[in-house]
Amino acid sequence: MTHPTTPAAASSAERAAEPGTAAAPTTAELDRLDPLAGYRERFLPSDGLVAYLDGNSLGRPLRVTADHLGAFVARDWGGRLIRAWDEQWMELPFSLGDRIAAATLGAAPGQTVVADSTTVLLYKLMRAAVDARPGRHELVLDDDNFPTDRFVAEGIARERGLRIRWISVDPARGVELDQVRAAVGPDTALVVLSHVSYRSGFLADMEGITRVAHDAGALVLWDLCHSVGSVPTRLDEWNVDLAVGCTYKYLNGGPGSPAFGYVARRLQADLEQPVQGWMGAADVFAMGDGFVPGEGMRRFLSGTPPVIGMLAMQDMLDLIEEAGIDAIRAKSIALTEHALRLVEKQLVPLGVTIATPKAAEERGSHVTIRHPEFREVTARLWEQGVIPDFRAPDGLRIGLSPLSTSFAELQRGIDAIETALTGGATAAGSS
Ligand SMILES: Cc1ncc(COP(=O)(O)O)c(C=O)c1O
Repeated sequence: MTHPTTPAAASSAERAAEPGTAAAPTTAELDRLDPLAGYRERFLPSDGLVAYLDGNSLGRPLRVTADHLGAFVARDWGGRLIRAWDEQWMELPFSLGDRIAAATLGAAPGQTVVADSTTVLLYKLMRAAVDARPGRHELVLDDDNFPTDRFVAEGIARERGLRIRWISVDPARGVELDQVRAAVGPDTALVVLSHVSYRSGFLADMEGITRVAHDAGALVLWDLCHSVGSVPTRLDEWNVDLAVGCTYKYLNGGPGSPAFGYVARRLQADLEQPVQGWMGAADVFAMGDGFVPGEGMRRFLSGTPPVIGMLAMQDMLDLIEEAGIDAIRAKSIALTEHALRLVEKQLVPLGVTIATPKAAEERGSHVTIRHPEFREVTARLWEQGVIPDFRAPDGLRIGLSPLSTSFAELQRGIDAIETALTGGATAAGSS
């Protein structure tokens, strides 16, 4: 699977891809060559921040978002009051979904909606999908998928009397095509996988895996939490059935911002999701007896849309549309490439191992490294304003958000990890 790149970013990515060669660029050169460097200024500064390496957990706010939130209270909510529902908010889940789809997902309008949380949308779409495959008794998941995906699937399996066939994966990689081919069969109702592994950053072959599952007659639901806004997809072209993703990572929607769900148009009329509420009904204000599901994506809504949670991500979508998702992907590759090079040079000699694929086309936008001291090291780094995150048992994730992270910031983070590990080694040696 290849992704188009912009010429300038591609050349820096390629040069950074050659560890140890004379052509490998310096951190300063990478920042100078970066065509997206100017976007960084548009994010709100944070006191005492040295390096933010956790945009894959919570994206940074944009400066304009602070103004827009204030204006929303005064103008839209305070000014228009209940009238704003008719004027703009009722349609927001659909118009915003279409914007996410066009800017990042490779999906035509009318197939994406913003609602609920990832967990709740996973439940609604997984239940709808398994019910649409009666007579099939298996869900296929990998044992390293994000906990919420596994937990929701386990609950649905219990509810519907299904089995889960677990694919056991290498935690330094993720689900491979051949593993899915071996796992699916005539009893598979649904395959649920993450496009980018939250742990290793492994980028699954969405197109190939979807085809293999379809050949077995199964549906596939993709979790796009770690790809949306950093790794482009072509959901329509790849014949994807269902997808969900969160908006507080690379879409910078803010803590707890709602999720989005994608349902291919060809499936919408046949799927019945279990949380049938008034906002999903054909006539929302009929207040009648009995539930009649709405047309298109409306039927996947349940209750009142979380309008305030949909504000900040609109500002980030402005940036993504301006920069272009392919240029963002090119910078993401250049950043992760440089991270791997710095880790090899500065941290591997200190006992660190790399748990992220080395090939750019197999990687999302974060790099995971392992060391027995990383839990404690991460806590110390946070106190110094260097913010990666820790994933048990010993993984430190370096999340690289292409529009807000500079190469110099990445370098500062790696230097701080090196210092923390060196200090740790000295302290341990003296005790
Ligand atoms: C792959 C993946 N799925 C789901 C979630 C979270 O779901 P929710 O937004 O419901 O908390 C995360 C959160 O980090 C995630 O990384």
